[in-house]
Amino acid sequence: MAQQDDLFKKISSHCKEYGFIFQSSEIYDGLSATYDYGPNGVLLKNNIKKYWWTAMVQMHENIVGVDAAIFMHPTTWKASGHVDAFNDPMIDNKDSKKRYRADHLIEGYIEKIEKKINKEVTKAKKRFGDSFDEEQFKTTNPRVLANQEKINAINERFAKAMTDSDMDDMKAQIEELGIVCPVSGTKNWTDVRQFNLMFSTQLGAVSGESGKIYLRPETAQGIFVNFLNVQKTTRQKLPFGIAQIGKAFRNEIVARQFIFRMREFEQMEMQFFIKPGTQMEWYNYWKETRLKWHLALGHQQDELRYHDHEALAHYADAALDIEFKFPFGFKELEGIHSRTDFDLASHEKYSGKNLKYFDPETQESYVPYVLETSIGCDRMFLAVLSHAYTEEEVPNAKGGMDKRVVLKIHPAIAPIKVAVLPIVKNKPEMVEKARAIFNDLRFDFDCQYDEKDGIGRRYRRQDAIGTPYCITIDFDTLEDDTVTIRDRDTLAQERISISEISKVVAEKTSMRQLF
Ligand code: GAP
Repeated sequence: MAQQDDLFKKISSHCKEYGFIFQSSEIYDGLSATYDYGPNGVLLKNNIKKYWWTAMVQMHENIVGVDAAIFMHPTTWKASGHVDAFNDPMIDNKDSKKRYRADHLIEGYIEKIEKKINKEVTKAKKRFGDSFDEEQFKTTNPRVLANQEKINAINERFAKAMTDSDMDDMKAQIEELGIVCPVSGTKNWTDVRQFNLMFSTQLGAVSGESGKIYLRPETAQGIFVNFLNVQKTTRQKLPFGIAQIGKAFRNEIVARQFIFRMREFEQMEMQFFIKPGTQMEWYNYWKETRLKWHLALGHQQDELRYHDHEALAHYADAALDIEFKFPFGFKELEGIHSRTDFDLASHEKYSGKNLKYFDPETQESYVPYVLETSIGCDRMFLAVLSHAYTEEEVPNAKGGMDKRVVLKIHPAIAPIKVAVLPIVKNKPEMVEKARAIFNDLRFDFDCQYDEKDGIGRRYRRQDAIGTPYCITIDFDTLEDDTVTIRDRDTLAQERISISEISKVVAEKTSMRQLF
């Protein structure tokens, strides 16, 4: 665990040192849970968005995009249920004065039991070697079974308390489990209270409740209220989807995990409108499709897992998370929710407008059901970096070994695709040639020109920001118009002609590699 904490710290300081992420308004000591993306960060973030948009919109004839406003009519949030039910349970420890999410305290307790199970499994694996059958062990070992039963019982009671909004029972559970404050070590807890996560502000010069509007806590509602506008203007037939990328805001009770939980963040959401009754078919389709999207980036199967929701949100009849193995454990990266007709039916009721779809095949009008995929762009950014951050030793030119930090980001989404490096900077013909190559490549790629320091140090700098290819211009280049292209991961160097560079880099870094 200490090692993983260490990794998380290394990733966040690497992000600052190499211009990926800065604390927002840092010169004023920052603003908690808000971050700014630096020069490399914005490139990587844009590439993640592009990969999502290409996969969801460009590659699906029946999915189209929108870009709705952040501010929406306040009744939107009444209709969506956010005014009444977008709450998290909050609890304070009276001794440390620290605030926690009550559900997180219980989840943390469950994680500890899960760790005990994993320990048993690891021990048994060692003991039995190749003949070990993990599934059989988990379903027969008495200690594992007892712990799993404990988890199931806690989960069941916890899910009921969340669904019924029973804050007294949640507090009782925390007390009965003997959960202590990680800071004070005491069980001196306040009652659990519900806390609404929406930020509000005033519209124009209108003061008081009548001018109160909200910063959207999810982008989805901008899609729902535009459902018929989009359907009619694009003449889409069910099933079809509307996708959107945009900012969302949540006044999170606790936000201590860098860009994992922010108060201002970005979502990439898609609402897929379907015929009622087909939701489980589409739920399974999107569950698999979205997992494939993650795996295509090179993320390993054991870095990702599904987690079915025990407590369903007010709008869902089925829901799961795709969880990623962050340095602090498996956590939600993306949600797949079967939202029924809750949102559209509720907007119909509150707006008094007909939001039904006329089905030309069955000649019926009905409110479509909705299947949602929702992923945080910033969380995806953290997942990409957690997977990519690698410390290793590589051979140097003097026959020894060098330590390097390398970001093994998939070339298609790497911030800088190619760096152009003249081997020496005091030879004008070489610099001129390198500059000409750079000036040509920059039309098609995000690239960097670097002539400062020895070639080894320049490679290290590019490795640290995940540049997949480096082009080196040397004395041979002046003779035969060839350069070396170095692969970030294998360190292999290949000699190619200047006229081929653009084609080679384009092939290696194309989004096509991901599909
Ligand atoms: N429209 C459904 C919805 O908003 P959600 O599970 O609350 O569902 C979807 O959020 C995704 O948005 C999450 O899986 C996560 O990736 C991201 N997300 C949610 N809250 C976040 C926060 N405070 N900071 C960063 N990302 C967040």
